[in-house]
Amino acid sequence: MRIITVKDYEELSKKAANILASQITLKPNSVLGLATGSTPVGAYRELVRIYKEGDINFSEVVTFNLDEYYGLDKENLQSYYYFMRDNIFKFVNININNIHIPDGRAKNIEQECIGYEDKIKQAGGIDLQLLGIGRNGHIGFNEPDVKFEAQTHLVTLDEDTIEANSRFFASMEEVPDQAISMGIKTIMHSRKILLLASGEEKAETINNMINGKITPELPASVLQLHPDVIVLLDEKAASKL
Ligand code: GLP
Repeated sequence: MRIITVKDYEELSKKAANILASQITLKPNSVLGLATGSTPVGAYRELVRIYKEGDINFSEVVTFNLDEYYGLDKENLQSYYYFMRDNIFKFVNININNIHIPDGRAKNIEQECIGYEDKIKQAGGIDLQLLGIGRNGHIGFNEPDVKFEAQTHLVTLDEDTIEANSRFFASMEEVPDQAISMGIKTIMHSRKILLLASGEEKAETINNMINGKITPELPASVLQLHPDVIVLLDEKAASKL
């Protein structure tokens, strides 16, 4: 793991966007694994700025999102589909056919999950996977006690995750309690991984992820086994290292 610590969220966002932009410059048809949550919002904003300055082109880029709430359709303001459209896709020249996000309304979940894995394979695998991290150490929606061998699957969200994510919903009751998420195996198959964390509430989890033992209790700890991970932190998220 390569740990990079920067001063604050602004710097973290700029550096993350530069890494993503470099990937697209070096390989214009890159397959990017993308994340949601508050953490990558600044990186997406910076990436859009780099695009508007004419320095990168998304026309051949292919994307796969980590996860989607189960039960929410694309038009729901809280869906990750909506989030991605609102934060990045509507601003850049990405081909809509190259965007992949699990279908939260899929009738046949098993088929949706197997199909998602197949599409990743057909695209040639993920070149660079962007990750945030949950307070409990989840990546994607792979909650503690995860099976490391899992691929894309239906997950039941932890109480802590529902509580943390309720800030985006009108009430706790409205937060879906299930999601479709890439599994740890899917994430570990990416060629490179860029994990972002900002703020003090992630500091202890980040320390355990980097210096603790590898355990399904802290799903992100499995990243210690990946050969090419950058962990990009602001000073607060790095404060317990
Ligand atoms: C959600 C997402 C994760 C994300 C996490 C942390 O649960 N499924 O992919 O990493 O939230 O979110 P935040 O960046 O808002 O702290």
